[in-house]
Amino acid sequence: MSHFNFKNQQLFAENVAVSELCAAHGTPSYIYSRAAFEEHFMAYQNAMGPDDLACYAVKANSNIAILNILAKLGAGFDIVSGGELERVLQAGGDPEKVVFSGVAKKSSEMRLALEVGIHCFNVESAAELERLNSVAVAMDMAAPVSLRVNPDVDAQTHPYISTGLAENKFGIAIDSALEVYKRAEALPGIDIVGVDCHIGSQLIDTTPFIDAMERVLKLIEELADNNIFLEHIDLGGGIGVRYENEETPDIGAYIQQVKERIKPFNLNLVLEPGRSIAANAGILTMEVEYLKQNGDKHFAIVDAAMNDMIRPALYQAWMDIQNIEASNGSTASYDIVGPVCETGDFLGKDRKLTLQAGDKLALFSAGAYGFTMASNYNSRPRAAEIMVDGDKHYLIRERETIASLMQGESLLP
Ligand code: LLP
Repeated sequence: MSHFNFKNQQLFAENVAVSELCAAHGTPSYIYSRAAFEEHFMAYQNAMGPDDLACYAVKANSNIAILNILAKLGAGFDIVSGGELERVLQAGGDPEKVVFSGVAKKSSEMRLALEVGIHCFNVESAAELERLNSVAVAMDMAAPVSLRVNPDVDAQTHPYISTGLAENKFGIAIDSALEVYKRAEALPGIDIVGVDCHIGSQLIDTTPFIDAMERVLKLIEELADNNIFLEHIDLGGGIGVRYENEETPDIGAYIQQVKERIKPFNLNLVLEPGRSIAANAGILTMEVEYLKQNGDKHFAIVDAAMNDMIRPALYQAWMDIQNIEASNGSTASYDIVGPVCETGDFLGKDRKLTLQAGDKLALFSAGAYGFTMASNYNSRPRAAEIMVDGDKHYLIRERETIASLMQGESLLP
């Protein structure tokens, strides 16, 4: 069920008219639905067992209000930096439910994670394993470790968000994993607890996930033959979402299929979903500043830009754009472009819309990899973030100010 719906051509976020939010907070702003975050997270949690762990991938949207909403539901968290760990702690997340992914963990980040007692480090190379061992030994501890293996499976998604091929920088080649596990077993600062893989994002077919799992299960058998036993298997990110008309798989059915298959192995299941929890829990609002026509081409120049939402520019992503209320403007096929000085600064191309200057628009499915990938390019303050909860709404991040952008800069004496 969507929590962003039109009633009499007026867009609502839960029970609040988006026009009201635009008036109260200005544009561009990210508007989120609490109910959507909760519903999407619970689809995972409800399908998993009490000893399994649904770890929300913080990178999708890391606002502490959102992390707090999920922490209250008992969520675990998948982090990729010390910064994300600090956010989880600040939001009241349980460190024992945190898995730490990422190819380049620094020693300082390892120390912080060991101090607070995270669930597990997803180690991505033999070199990182040695580093983690030394850090843990120096603290007189043993680090809980899962090796992230690269199963060499084609996720059939955009090349920039495909991570499970041998040519990608991620993980340990599955063929060398046994050797690295043996080494891990010999290290006093390492406690082997699991195995993980993550082959990519925005998969709208679960077949590659299942293929990857089969390869990992084969490795688990090989490990058992070598007297190395694991507690969990982590299959990485969640399933893809609907941006346009994608038919997305049912989360419950996918998890049930996985659970049945891994039952004989007696392993707990860990998942790290981000997009499928956050994307359709948020929209990005914007105002049409100008309309212009160059030859046959119609442009709507809006006040949101690639610095607010980079997905169309970076991944050629298609995201829906609609008026938030009826317009008296003119109907045409518009390119929706921002103020940034780059030809790649567009949010949508060839969109049939009825527009006039001053209209407010919404970019849909913007809750994941939107604000977290925002930048200050062209000295543009990052957007405000607002959480709607029923008929209430809360400012969960103030719009940045120009002063805040220059903070920490100084003139030469
Ligand atoms: N676990 C790991 C180790 C990951 O690298 C990722 C995403 C996830 C979990 C979460 O995957 P999800 O459930 O969201 O598919 N910025 C891109 C997506 C990059 C994904 C990076 N890794 C986009 O906007 O499409």
